[in-house]
Amino acid sequence: MTVTAVSPKSIPSLSQSSFQQKLRLILEPTSYFEDLLGCGSDMVMMPSAGYEKPVVTVYNPEALKQILVNDQRLFSSPGILNKLLAPLTGTRSLASLDGDRHKRERKLMMPSFHGERMYNYGNLIQGIIRDELLKLTVGQVFIAQEMTQRITLRTIIEVVFGIKKGDRYEPIIELTQGILNRFSSPLATSFLFFDSLQKDFGPWSPWGSFIRARQKLDDLIYAEIGDRRAHPDPDRTDILSLLINARDEAGEAMTDSELRDEMMLLLFAGHETTAIALAWSLYWMHADPSILAKLRSELADANSSNPMDIFRLPYVSAVGNETLRINPVAMFTFARQAEADTELLGYKIVAKDILFGCIYALHQRPDLYPNPRQFRPERFLERQYTPYEFMPFGGGTRRCLGEALAQFELRLGIDAFATVADFELLDDIPLAAKRKGVVLSPKTGVKMRLLGIKN
Ligand code: HEM
Repeated sequence: MTVTAVSPKSIPSLSQSSFQQKLRLILEPTSYFEDLLGCGSDMVMMPSAGYEKPVVTVYNPEALKQILVNDQRLFSSPGILNKLLAPLTGTRSLASLDGDRHKRERKLMMPSFHGERMYNYGNLIQGIIRDELLKLTVGQVFIAQEMTQRITLRTIIEVVFGIKKGDRYEPIIELTQGILNRFSSPLATSFLFFDSLQKDFGPWSPWGSFIRARQKLDDLIYAEIGDRRAHPDPDRTDILSLLINARDEAGEAMTDSELRDEMMLLLFAGHETTAIALAWSLYWMHADPSILAKLRSELADANSSNPMDIFRLPYVSAVGNETLRINPVAMFTFARQAEADTELLGYKIVAKDILFGCIYALHQRPDLYPNPRQFRPERFLERQYTPYEFMPFGGGTRRCLGEALAQFELRLGIDAFATVADFELLDDIPLAAKRKGVVLSPKTGVKMRLLGIKN
């Protein structure tokens, strides 16, 4: 008997031109991802604006496990591949590091983001959410994402930076929001993808105004670092203080510019993502009144305002997870790179190929999530999904550092939205998602009206 080796298959591409595909990835990413699923493959070659050659986008759980977790020698995660973030977060943050330095820095920061730590932040987060809800007046029409963005920005500034209301608090909020709003349209997003557009033609030019706003934010962050160094307080438990006091194996402290990049990463990776998830949760709770009714019934039975009790409630958790599944904020994981020629599910991968997990397409697979466009939290009560089937926070060595904080904020938000106030959804159902910078957000920001405050 002769055994013939089966040669690996080539990874397919969509039939449109590279230019058309790039345009669709910017203007209509979700319809592009639907086409990926329609082509019957588990991975596709995708053109990319930020890299020299097409990249492989993967949405099969087994393949994702292989790339992100199983074989660290075959698939690495070079920080240079995240250069898209560099205009905001510089080149010395966790996202830009790799290898041993990345491992060391994660080890240093991990304890502050660990689930148990969240317990200490619970009351603070509940207070911020309630405070922002009570700023609305009865009858007021508002954009949910603007409200949730204040909640999550305040959470980062108080929990991560440890800044209390005062001098730098409001200016940091305003500058951060201003910077992010510059990337709110798909056109403005192009500035991140095309280096050639990153030119300073004075304060009124798009890039020029961005770098001036960034400089003002940098000045505030450096001033805060300077104050902390000048007045050390051993009782502080915020993450900035912890990083300032940390020493590496050689006894070296982080420099001011390293601290600045890390703070910018936490600020930008940590607040808008969570604000979008919160806005979507508010949308889904009101798009289907039965969801809100079930939430209220579970919360009434639990009869507890303890943040950890709320965090653990099954239906609250399922609504949070289904929100992150149906509307994943991050379309993709960060990039991974093949270190040698290899095979993935029988497809040929060449050394130096760049691979991305497509979280959106994974979460829309009908074999994992029957009727995937239906919002059905019960899926998460009926079945335990593996970390490669449900992965809103990515996986492996770069898995989101702020996952526990984000999940905590989301579930405490769902609780407060259901129990503190009555709202009316003013948007059409279904509400589409659009690209905002490197994430997907609700097209309208979710338009709502406050009908009344309950307690
Ligand atoms: C709903 C909210 C959030 C979502 C959907 C989200 C999603 C993600 C994803 C997909 C990644 C890439 C993981 C990978 O490539 O495997 C990531 C990385 C990261 N996230 Fe989040 N994130 C959220 C909230 C946060 C928060 C609250 C923080 C911190 C305050 C944070 C900090 C980070 C950091 C520092 C990284 C880089 C980790 C590394 O390079 O080692 N994120 N996040």
